[in-house]
Amino acid sequence: MAAAETPAGAAVPSPNELERLAAEAEAAIAAAVDRAAWERLRVTWLGTRQGRLRALQGLIPRAADKRAFGQAFNRLKERVEGALAARDEALAAAESAARGDRARLDVTLPGRRPRVGALHPVTLVARRIEEIFRGLGYSVALGPEVEDDRFNFALLNFPDDHPARDAQDTLFLGDGRLLRTHTSPVQIRTLLARRPPIRVICPGRVYRNDNDLRRSPMFHQVEGLCVAEGITVGDLKGTLEAFVTRLFSAATAIRLRPSYFPFTEPSCEVDITCQICSGAGCPTCSGSGWMEILGAGMVDPRVLENCALDPDRYSGFAFGLGLDRVAMNRWKIPNIRLLFESDERLLRQVRD
Ligand code: PHE
Repeated sequence: MAAAETPAGAAVPSPNELERLAAEAEAAIAAAVDRAAWERLRVTWLGTRQGRLRALQGLIPRAADKRAFGQAFNRLKERVEGALAARDEALAAAESAARGDRARLDVTLPGRRPRVGALHPVTLVARRIEEIFRGLGYSVALGPEVEDDRFNFALLNFPDDHPARDAQDTLFLGDGRLLRTHTSPVQIRTLLARRPPIRVICPGRVYRNDNDLRRSPMFHQVEGLCVAEGITVGDLKGTLEAFVTRLFSAATAIRLRPSYFPFTEPSCEVDITCQICSGAGCPTCSGSGWMEILGAGMVDPRVLENCALDPDRYSGFAFGLGLDRVAMNRWKIPNIRLLFESDERLLRQVRD
């Protein structure tokens, strides 16, 4: 180093001293922590006017062995340049990595919200109904969607020539198997499997050979069944009232109209106060102020007998309701197919 500051006329360093200078330069350059330090070192060693190498170069003509000195000088210059280039590359790599890290970890960016899904409208209705009936002492029973004639029709007291048994209405699978057309076969399965008192509701998919704005080949029902000693029509009515006032509103009334089902006697259609006009009369209820929501009745004694229960000892009621209709009503969905197309634009609008 003395050499660099050596005024012209000072001693010419030996090749060994140039070697030591190279090592000194390499150590300093490798330790440059940033661009500014690197640039200061570049100017110190390679600066065209004040650089230490420039000064040493000026000593070549005065060296005793010009050739040896010149060669030592060239090695020194190569090593300084090599060290600067290597450090330059390392600094550039560190800088770009730091830029990348900052981009990945920009804590000032707003967070990305996870997209939260929701339950399907039919599931929401089914769960609400299950909850209401659990509160009335019912449990949930499930049955298969593929049934046979016995469970779907025969044990439910359907006569052999009943139109529901026709391929016009029922989807048959062959081998005597069919897709259940209602959840009523779960009544039979329950009556065969348990002893009274029985209180169950049975939600599930059912299938019919239908397809229009209000009817889809697959839809959902909930069956209710209560069988014990001394069950009367009064119990049916009270239960339905408790149910609809909880599912809709406290002001909702029910009306029973006589009807027919093979597995209930007497049977009725149950209407509730129209949920659109509160009973005043509107186009949706065709001016009547009522809308039909379920079928019900007292369990036919023959159904009890079919399941080896004594009809003189036990009685009960059953009801069945369409879940899709309730969901369509509740969220004003005009077409049943919208429920099964899984279009998020519809599903996003349905929140409980
Ligand atoms: N299973 C009947 C239907 O699908 C509804 C019903 C169930 C009626 C229970 C009476 C009792 O239409």
